[in-house]
Amino acid sequence: MEPKTTLLGLRGCVIDAPEFGKLRAWRDGAVIIGDGRITEVGSFQFLGRKHRPQPIHWQQSDRAIIFPGLIDLHTHLPQYPVVARGRGQLLEWLHQHIYPKERGFTGKVSARESGEFFAELTRHGTTTAAVYTAIYEDSCDMAFEAAAASGMRIIMGQTMMDVGTYGTLQPRKILSVALLECERLCRKWHGEADGLLEYAFSPRFALACSERLMRSAGEMAREFGCHIQTHLAENREECERVRHLFSKSKDYTDVYDKAGLLGPKTILGHCVHLSPRERAELADTGTSIAHCPTANLYLSSGIMPLGEHLAAGIKVGLGSDVAAGPELNLWQVMRSAIESQKARSFYEQNVAVPSPAEALHLATQGAAAVLGKGDIIGSLDAGKEADITVMDLAALLPYGGAETKIEDLTPDDMLALCIYRGGPHAVLETFVRGHSLSHAHAHAAQVAHE
Ligand code: GUN
Ligand code: ZN
Repeated sequence: MEPKTTLLGLRGCVIDAPEFGKLRAWRDGAVIIGDGRITEVGSFQFLGRKHRPQPIHWQQSDRAIIFPGLIDLHTHLPQYPVVARGRGQLLEWLHQHIYPKERGFTGKVSARESGEFFAELTRHGTTTAAVYTAIYEDSCDMAFEAAAASGMRIIMGQTMMDVGTYGTLQPRKILSVALLECERLCRKWHGEADGLLEYAFSPRFALACSERLMRSAGEMAREFGCHIQTHLAENREECERVRHLFSKSKDYTDVYDKAGLLGPKTILGHCVHLSPRERAELADTGTSIAHCPTANLYLSSGIMPLGEHLAAGIKVGLGSDVAAGPELNLWQVMRSAIESQKARSFYEQNVAVPSPAEALHLATQGAAAVLGKGDIIGSLDAGKEADITVMDLAALLPYGGAETKIEDLTPDDMLALCIYRGGPHAVLETFVRGHSLSHAHAHAAQVAHE
């Protein structure tokens, strides 16, 4: 007889957003996990009483709010220590603060920081992230080691740049060396950790890449079936320079199209300043957007027209874009996605301001769809892999909840509390494929110590 596997049952207020605009919730709900997957979801009254052949280990709390794991579609690992630095806009900020930090992201510095970064993401309730590293093979390799130890779902790549780069290689060697290194990293890591790790080809942006580099990145991504991530139309001066530099192209989006960088496996950060033609091109090619509202505000880049991009049929998820965004906290990014459209609505007509449920969708199921993983993660449907973030209601309430009638709070109230007051202080636990990440981090730290 097969040994009976013990199931894990999480009891709390269960909330997800499987469709844009719709919140689904069980006020006293339960999610049951077996073999890394969600086996059942529903009301505790029903699921708690049901008879099953396997025993259930219950984790119950009237303070727990159970969400699908949060997905960060755009962040820069080496930049985390220099968050909230500088007052200039994108190009000045990159040269003054970012390239100098990334230049030193090799050897011991990167070993230490890579080990800590994924624990930080987990502490913030993130279970999946698309990550840029620096231009070096050694530190990207170490970052993958750390990602593997973390148990998270990570899509990551070495940042590629061969124009105005910060390395010490002779300019004529940069491109061939970078392509070789990226291919080696891809062969080593793509699909590792039982498919939790994926390599992403990551040309920085058109101002830092030759056409040959961009074309080669696109070709390699297709050859290996990998994602591509880059930045598009974040800042007006950046767009202006691209227009001058690539005068044969129709516009910035066309530069990437000509290089073969657009398609369903491509995630474009920002897309603040796009023409209707460019928007249509992204929709036609199935290219997705990582919306980074905290970063767009921090660098005064502008407010991305979210409603217009969605109405065009473009898939959109959210990104912290650390260090342009000051926090890894996706609850704050959701808040910013709402509030930046609210600000637009004060001086523009017909602006669609996302609801908290819509913001949650962008950070979960919407982002999962961007990654082509909409059937695997993003919501709490039975059959999906159990990527889950559990929040602590008491940590979100004034006076720890002592002055609130918790039984009166609706799931909408709880979601709003997470979005307007959520952060690491209120994250109880995160799971990827049913494994608690806090435990994975404790184990990784112990192994590192031994
Ligand atoms: N554009 C090119 N590189 C970067 C970067 O590192 N951060 C942001 N926000 N924009 C970029
Ligand atoms: Zn970025």
